[in-house]
Amino acid sequence: MSADPAPATARLFFALWPPAGLAAQLGELARRHGAGARPTRPATIHLTLAFLGDVGLGRLPALLAAAGRVRGPAFALGLDRLAYWAHNRILWAGGGTPPSLARLVGDLQRELAAAGFAVDGADRPFVPHVTLVRRLPAAPASLPSPELAAWPVTAFRLVRSQRAAAGADYATLAEFPLAD
Ligand code: 2AM
Repeated sequence: MSADPAPATARLFFALWPPAGLAAQLGELARRHGAGARPTRPATIHLTLAFLGDVGLGRLPALLAAAGRVRGPAFALGLDRLAYWAHNRILWAGGGTPPSLARLVGDLQRELAAAGFAVDGADRPFVPHVTLVRRLPAAPASLPSPELAAWPVTAFRLVRSQRAAAGADYATLAEFPLAD
């Protein structure tokens, strides 16, 4: 009997991961609004910068090199509102888009495209959002502005997503620092 061959692709995305204190606050919000739906667990809460989908593992060195060419300063992100999208039934936290975040996403998309990677949604405006609850059938009656800690963004990550019973499991494959 032969062993299963290793998978030739991985489902990949780039994201920002909040510090533990903010992740706990966001997880509490998710729990509060997510009864009967799928609240995100604190450990998996993130903000996606670029979603690649399935990438051949042989392309990983080129992907790491492309992301490694992205430079930018550390910056602070403020999440000050909750919102609901009916089209995909998610409740999310967001705020403004600081210029450093817009530049980071633009530079990342450019480097990825130059290296031959397709980014899902690169043709649509980037709306920074942290998904808190999935499969929420309807918007909550009221969504007061949350009081959340500031998010010091000092790095971005390349993450692998694997489907799991509880939703998705994420493994960080690489971290890319942001610094002046
Ligand atoms: P979401 O939170 O708005 O669903 C991992 O799946 C991450 O990539 C999620 O944060 C998800 O955003 C984001 N993402 C963006 N485009 C995606 C796509 N086409 N399929 C799955 N996830 C996508």
